[in-house]
Amino acid sequence: MRAFFCVELPDDVRAALSDVSRRLRRRLAAAKWVPADNLHVTLRFLGEVGEETAQAVKEGAMEVAAVTQPFALELSTLGAFPHPERGRVLWAGPPGSDGRFEALAALLEEAVQAAGIPPERRSAHPHVTLARFRTPKDVTDVVAPLEGGPLVVPVREIVLMRSELRPQGPIYTPVTHLPIEG
Ligand code: 2AM
Repeated sequence: MRAFFCVELPDDVRAALSDVSRRLRRRLAAAKWVPADNLHVTLRFLGEVGEETAQAVKEGAMEVAAVTQPFALELSTLGAFPHPERGRVLWAGPPGSDGRFEALAALLEEAVQAAGIPPERRSAHPHVTLARFRTPKDVTDVVAPLEGGPLVVPVREIVLMRSELRPQGPIYTPVTHLPIEG
């Protein structure tokens, strides 16, 4: 299966972000918007994994979750990768980070590699992708703090998500919820 680890969003955050997307849609043409149901914070994209590898990463991630303390992400700004002047991904996320998300991602990276998956070269940045641009777009006038203050995402579990690619867009189905209870 094609899979990734992520943090799911509470319903209120999902609704607030989908409002943000709806308002921006008029200003940003030629973007592929992520449907409300698919919004999430990626922890580690795995790609295609066989049953045995899936089982091994699940067990590794369970141990990581068991030694990690719950924390929260405060989504308070819009941002763009790789840079607002030539945005390919428009996201909502924390303006900076206290390092806890990165620490969790680093532990997960070790577990994933121990299960035989090649290393991720990109560093982990907590964010929720709202839209993707096929051609890089200048979104400097859009990148700003979120109106209405931060949206709080409690990080209390790691979710292993299955992703099925369809012409209309991917379908995500949670496979396992691993409680963060360190
Ligand atoms: P994103 O969080 O920046 O959007 C599911 O596809 C998730 O895995 C997406 O949210 C995506 O990143 C992330 N991801 C990372 N690398 C990927 C890749 N090579 N192909 C597809 N998705 C990838």
